[in-house]
Amino acid sequence: MHFYEPSQGHRLPHDPFNAIVGPRPIGWIASQDAQGVLNLAPYSFFNAFNYTPPIVGFASLGRKDTVRNIEATGEFVWNLVTRDLAEAMNTSCAAVGPEVDEFALAGLATAASRVVRVPRVAASPVSFECRVTQIIQLQTAQGQSVETWLTLGEVVGVHIDERLLVDGVYDTAAARPVLRGGGPADYFELGERFQMRRP
Ligand SMILES: Cc1cc2nc3c(=O)[nH]c(=O)nc-3n(C[C@H](O)[C@H](O)[C@H](O)COP(=O)(O)O)c2cc1C
Repeated sequence: MHFYEPSQGHRLPHDPFNAIVGPRPIGWIASQDAQGVLNLAPYSFFNAFNYTPPIVGFASLGRKDTVRNIEATGEFVWNLVTRDLAEAMNTSCAAVGPEVDEFALAGLATAASRVVRVPRVAASPVSFECRVTQIIQLQTAQGQSVETWLTLGEVVGVHIDERLLVDGVYDTAAARPVLRGGGPADYFELGERFQMRRP
């Protein structure tokens, strides 16, 4: 077995952490600053954390515009990245100033949300309107602050393209979600489905 203590370095050509904890769903997060300037960015340190009420969260490595916006307005919208939207998602990660609207940068139209003010990505077939619940600065095992913020939000509105509902059941594969792997450029699409019931 290759063993390493991350604090001492991994001794590999690439840090394997992201490739091991993968593929990951992507949080494509729309937000707005207090003046209403739109923002859109992908976060793959993203997941769902609760069912009732539904809560999703993402980690910002550094206090990025998305976190600042959510802190200012209390709202964000998660959008599903599908295969058709992969290139636009990638464009939206550009390191641009807070005054730049990544919807416009990526050529994406907005659609009005129903509960929050932040709009959603019109071309995305699934969006969650969210209200922030907690913004937590991470810390090390020694209690030292890490420059990473975990932002959690309650899902207060859900939009689903009806084409993804087959007899009312959401069809995960039909959406062709884009998943993030490791390294600078790896992404995945879904593989084979199998089923297993709990004991
Ligand atoms: C697929 C993908 C996943 C990303 N995941 C993260 C992440 O989990 N955390 C993070 O801080 N940055 C992540 N980034 C980089 C941010 O998207 C990038 O820094 C962006 O400019 C942040 O935008 P903002 O400052 O408008 O919030 C990711 C980029 C891509 C393309």
